[in-house]
Amino acid sequence: MNRIIFTQVPELGRSNVRVKDPVHVENALKTMMKDAQHKLQVIADFDWTLSKCTEDGKTCSTTHSVLGESKHMPEYYRTETRRLKDIYMPIEFDPTKTVEEKIPKMIEWYSKNHELLVTCHLTKQLITTMVRESRARLRDGCKEFFDQLHNMEIPLLLFSAGMGDIIKETIQQQATFYPENMKIVANFFKFDDTDKMVGFSGDLIHTFNKNENSVHSGDYFSNIRHRENLLLMGDSLGDLGMAKGADNVQCSLKIGFLNFQVDKNLDLYMQNFDIVIIEDESLDVLNGLVRAIL
Ligand code: TMP
Repeated sequence: MNRIIFTQVPELGRSNVRVKDPVHVENALKTMMKDAQHKLQVIADFDWTLSKCTEDGKTCSTTHSVLGESKHMPEYYRTETRRLKDIYMPIEFDPTKTVEEKIPKMIEWYSKNHELLVTCHLTKQLITTMVRESRARLRDGCKEFFDQLHNMEIPLLLFSAGMGDIIKETIQQQATFYPENMKIVANFFKFDDTDKMVGFSGDLIHTFNKNENSVHSGDYFSNIRHRENLLLMGDSLGDLGMAKGADNVQCSLKIGFLNFQVDKNLDLYMQNFDIVIIEDESLDVLNGLVRAIL
């Protein structure tokens, strides 16, 4: 317990935080602290990573359920998305299935959902209202996290298989969206001239194709090639693919939020993430790391 990681980042010593290999984390942290703001980049998932999984004992909304739970959406949409979620979400988090087995099921789920959404007469104004009335909550400390990264001009890629417009609206309402250093890659709506949603722009992004999406063929990562130190954060094993295009990264720390089914999933998360944060609705550990690095 007397390693410098625990003095530099006391949050790492909390009982709900697991460090897989303290020597690796210490070495990575030393490199990141030496390079400070000059070489850091951050990639984060959104749903239940930057946003809360629960608050006051109740499940918080994902970007999808902002729509699926809203009284402003047609009854048929709410019923059908609930039914689909009951079928497909257990598959997404099933530790006994491989990613290859899960992918066709995710495509099925997302395609059905998107087809349905286009029939629902969504508008930009309605999205603002639905986010305000929803149970989508940024994690405690999220504004501090965004502010720290913005103040030091650290690129933050929000990579989500959720709804991009809802992510942006949630951040605007509950923190600050900084266009200078924040880029969102997600499923964005297409609107017509009257602000009515008429479809989706770009390729479909689901939980397990975050490693092959447009951002990796665009110039995002080539423009920040000098940023060799990476903090990656997610709540699903699929999130590990988010950094695939960041091929110049020399030093990384992968931080996993294990929000539920802890006994079932802890071993798997420990094998895949460097730091695992268990049932914690704050960004304290991330803020501690960023504070130490910057
Ligand atoms: P993310 O972790 O990349 O933000 O992934 C989006 C989450 O949204 C993922 O856990 C699946 C979930 N989802 C729903 O809750 N409802 C839906 O209708 C769909 C298509 C996905």
